[in-house]
Amino acid sequence: MRFYFHLLGIILTSLFFTNCGETNADTPLVPTDTIPRLKTNFTNAFTIGAALNEAQILETDQVGASLIKKEFNTITPENNMKWMYIHPTLDSFNFSICDQYVEFGRKNNMHIVGHALLWHSQIAEYMNEVKDSALMASYIDQHIRKVAGHYKGKIDTWDVVNEALNEDGTFRESNFFKVMGPSYLEQAFRTAAEVDPTATLIYNDYNMWKPEKRAGAVKLVKNLQEKGIKIDGVGMQAHWSLIGPDLKDVENSILAYAELGVKVMFTELDVTALPNPWELEGAEVSQNFEGSPFMDPYPDGLPDSMQVKLAERYSDIFNLFLKHQDKISRVTFWGVNDGGSWLNNWPIENRTNHPLFFDRNYLPKPAYHKVMNLNQPKN
Ligand code: XIL
Repeated sequence: MRFYFHLLGIILTSLFFTNCGETNADTPLVPTDTIPRLKTNFTNAFTIGAALNEAQILETDQVGASLIKKEFNTITPENNMKWMYIHPTLDSFNFSICDQYVEFGRKNNMHIVGHALLWHSQIAEYMNEVKDSALMASYIDQHIRKVAGHYKGKIDTWDVVNEALNEDGTFRESNFFKVMGPSYLEQAFRTAAEVDPTATLIYNDYNMWKPEKRAGAVKLVKNLQEKGIKIDGVGMQAHWSLIGPDLKDVENSILAYAELGVKVMFTELDVTALPNPWELEGAEVSQNFEGSPFMDPYPDGLPDSMQVKLAERYSDIFNLFLKHQDKISRVTFWGVNDGGSWLNNWPIENRTNHPLFFDRNYLPKPAYHKVMNLNQPKN
């Protein structure tokens, strides 16, 4: 049975792509520009993008790369630009994959995001051992000068600092903060602005809809502004579910950040279709859930009823984005298709999640079609 589903998927995928007007296809059935795509659909509202994995950047995943070029006009590197990969030891830099990432974006006329200059996670081990504030400041300085300098004029938007806040809006006790206090963040933005004055510089974090975290983010942005340090935007990651967050909270955050005079971006959008262990009473992430059918209910595909729910949730989300399109400059999905989503392995490993617009065969799902059919408010 699975085999036939797989075969059907391949046939449908090839039909979808034959209709795309590929330059290397024999005779395109329909010219490319007559087919509505995400990027053309939302062209008057915001740019629309996806995080790319290595196979997509290198175009070894040809189907994925081809779809990205058609649907999206902005890209983010899912992992390759993180400190542990691009600057693994104090004196070594691995630019080669990221150079290809930037080339991919330039060739295809895309808005190119750099993710991320400073993040406590996926950082090189030597940074966790630094205890001296002057040394930490010099390492941060070197990292930003080398990385942002290498891509000067080529990265359009930098996530300068990622996830610096706790849920209550106070500063996270990362090693950066433990050693330098909040000055590390100021230094990061100051240096990034000096190295690449034309890049858009943003602060990025998850749960930015939460009122307490929102208050912390507002304070963070205001502090930079009061000190005359350039910050252009706030990135709301948007790793959401079918039931949360309440879009009223999201809207209040959009309004609060826009009020500061900065742009709002949804930088890592996905909607999990699976049960979340943290929604269970007691909030205890139990090992017992791992691999249990209860926590992994759709290994063979998302049932129609759930496709409808996912489509409705995405439609509500995009209606809100469209309502505030004057404040929102970008919406980026965290991944391209369901098979490549990090949510197959987080917060529980080895599940089959269905959080994105394209299924495992890169075919558009009902959520894609529903969002494509939304009536956009006229400017
Ligand atoms: C995730 C990647 O998608 C995974 O492949 C990796 O194993 C862990 O990081 N917030 C972020 C992203 O800012 O960088 C994270 O990406 C997801 C959460």
